[in-house]
Amino acid sequence: METPVIVAIDGPSGTGKSSTSKAVAAKLGLSYLDTGAQYRAMTWWMLSNGIDVDNAAEVATAADKPTIVSGTDPSAPTITVDGTDAAGPIRTQEVTAAVSAVSAVPEVRARLVELQRSAAAAAPNGIVVEGRDIGTTVLPDATVKIFLTASAQARAARRNGELNGKEAADLAATQAALVKRDAADSGRKTSPLAKADDAIEVDTTDLTLDQVIECIVTLIEEKRAAR
Ligand code: DC
Repeated sequence: METPVIVAIDGPSGTGKSSTSKAVAAKLGLSYLDTGAQYRAMTWWMLSNGIDVDNAAEVATAADKPTIVSGTDPSAPTITVDGTDAAGPIRTQEVTAAVSAVSAVPEVRARLVELQRSAAAAAPNGIVVEGRDIGTTVLPDATVKIFLTASAQARAARRNGELNGKEAADLAATQAALVKRDAADSGRKTSPLAKADDAIEVDTTDLTLDQVIECIVTLIEEKRAAR
């Protein structure tokens, strides 16, 4: 049997990580894990349970309480917290505004990194894992590491497109919030958003989603053929 292929896709928000990662996994018959959804799920649980998310000690003590389960089928990924479907609530502005503070707490990261490594080990054919620190910290031995980038303007436009009038925001406000979150994610002490030395950087600013998917599938197939 072929050795499972482990693909790490990192990068800031709005670079198309989720759409790309899901499509690549589906095309290659791999599992898929959205680690950002897990940090969001943790944050949603903290907010729902009256934890002060700006109090790192309080967050640290509570970090092992919620049971977070991710379904890894790329055509229908799921996330539950204590058995409740959390896919909707984790995408609210309230969670988005609080997630960087929660994800900077080492106890939160230790807990979720353990879940992420178990998911990768359990994937029968391999897995595409998307996040911020997958290539550097979670799966440093990944078969292929991709670091997606795009200009802040392009990322803000994509994010606004995703919101699709649901929580309408103007472009400048979206861009400012995005840049602020990236700075927090890149500046934290414990496994910040960073490109691994051996990651391949793909700038998606002027590429269509299909072009990005094709580029990554080709990179993975080349790696597979070479081993
Ligand atoms: O990908 P996303 O926007 O859903 O991620 C939400 C937040 O989770 C992001 O602001 C930083 C954090 N995160 C992280 O710290 N490490 C990861 N591997 C994935 C996400």
